[in-house]
Amino acid sequence: MNIAELLEQIAEKGWCVWDDFLTPEAVQQLRACFNGDAQQARIGRHENRLAETTIRSDKIRWLEPEMGVPVQHYLMQMESIQRAVNREFYLGLFEYEAHFACYEKGAFYKKHLDAFKENVTRRLTTVLYLNEDWKKEDGGELIIYDLDDNQLATVAPKGGRLVVFLSEQFPHEVLPTYKERISIAGWFRVNGVRDNFLDIAS
Ligand code: OGA
Ligand code: MN
Repeated sequence: MNIAELLEQIAEKGWCVWDDFLTPEAVQQLRACFNGDAQQARIGRHENRLAETTIRSDKIRWLEPEMGVPVQHYLMQMESIQRAVNREFYLGLFEYEAHFACYEKGAFYKKHLDAFKENVTRRLTTVLYLNEDWKKEDGGELIIYDLDDNQLATVAPKGGRLVVFLSEQFPHEVLPTYKERISIAGWFRVNGVRDNFLDIAS
């Protein structure tokens, strides 16, 4: 798999799975930047916390370049994907935001779309997995659906695997995991208005 094939698959079907996007060493180094200081994930800013944990039970930490060179390197890789996608599809992607997510034993994320409510500017989703030796009995698969609720794919959270899909077209869910499961979920966004202010490049 390479960027050209990624573009091809996004054009053809809107999603793709890129195995060995990162080597096991790079996965290990990136994972080490996530020092476990994560917080309960929120769905929206105004929902009540109790309801949220029935929808998702992962803990997250937003990526910042200050977390280390492996994070900076990963963000640069996402920048080249952003440039290629913009060149090919004129999507006008303008920003990438991403967080580490830790699903502890028993954690899950019920079926959802990534582009909704205050996240309407999300266009393309990425999920990178940072788990060594993931086995079938460890669970935690990502299930991808289409908008008619047909199940399109079952993806194991195998280390180094990158999943990319159009944020508005593919509902998805994370099945309960039986082992700690680490991922980086990220979103390329278009420019938009948030909280009555125009986004400006940071
Ligand atoms: C998300 C998400 C999927 C995964 O964070 O929005 O859907 O496989 N994550 O971790
Ligand atoms: Mn999602």
